[in-house]
Amino acid sequence: MQQKGLMYSIGASVVLAIIAIVVAVVISNGQTTSKLNNADRSLTLWNIQPGLGTIMIEYATRMNNAWWAVDADNWDMAKYQVKEMTEIQEVGEVTRPSHADALKKFEKNDLDPLLQAVSAKDKDAFTAAYDKAITGCNQCHGDTKGKDGSSYRFVKIIRPTGNYPFANVDWAGQ
Ligand code: HEC
Repeated sequence: MQQKGLMYSIGASVVLAIIAIVVAVVISNGQTTSKLNNADRSLTLWNIQPGLGTIMIEYATRMNNAWWAVDADNWDMAKYQVKEMTEIQEVGEVTRPSHADALKKFEKNDLDPLLQAVSAKDKDAFTAAYDKAITGCNQCHGDTKGKDGSSYRFVKIIRPTGNYPFANVDWAGQ
């Protein structure tokens, strides 16, 4: 009888230990998920994700590419470039949440009309949307303040001039 009681209490302890381990694993998984889902630049993995500087270089490149694609009547390429702009900006919204609202505003006011124009293969609408987007780029550069409180007015976007950015791309496509 006594032995049965002992066995029972060992069994109960094992069950409790298993429950404790399961709870600990669930909590720790939850903490890991939360760390991966919320931008925190004190963590190395978050700190090496592309920030606005990297995203902006892609923005500028793709704006340029879209221009030359339309110039060569390659609307599929132009649409692809504008879509990629939207995708990279969504990365920026995640990695730099403090700029998310401004980025979303730019997407709605400037990228969406650009996408509509390239989807409609409408050159006049494209040129108008393109110039408006350039104004949007520069407006954000003027409005956004860096750590030292000064703006990014020194970054001024214009219509592309001169040589193609990628000399090995035929903008007319295949
Ligand atoms: C949400 C506001 C915002 C919008 C919209 C925006 N920019 Fe920027 N841009 C910035 C900020 C902030 C920086 C400085 C980035 C940094 O280093 O942190 C920047 C920097 C740049 C740079 C310099 C990048 C470098 O490191 O050399 C270029 C080029 C640029 N932007 C192009 C564009 C273009 C093209 C557009 C429009 C298609 C645009 N930006 C729209 C905020 C914006």
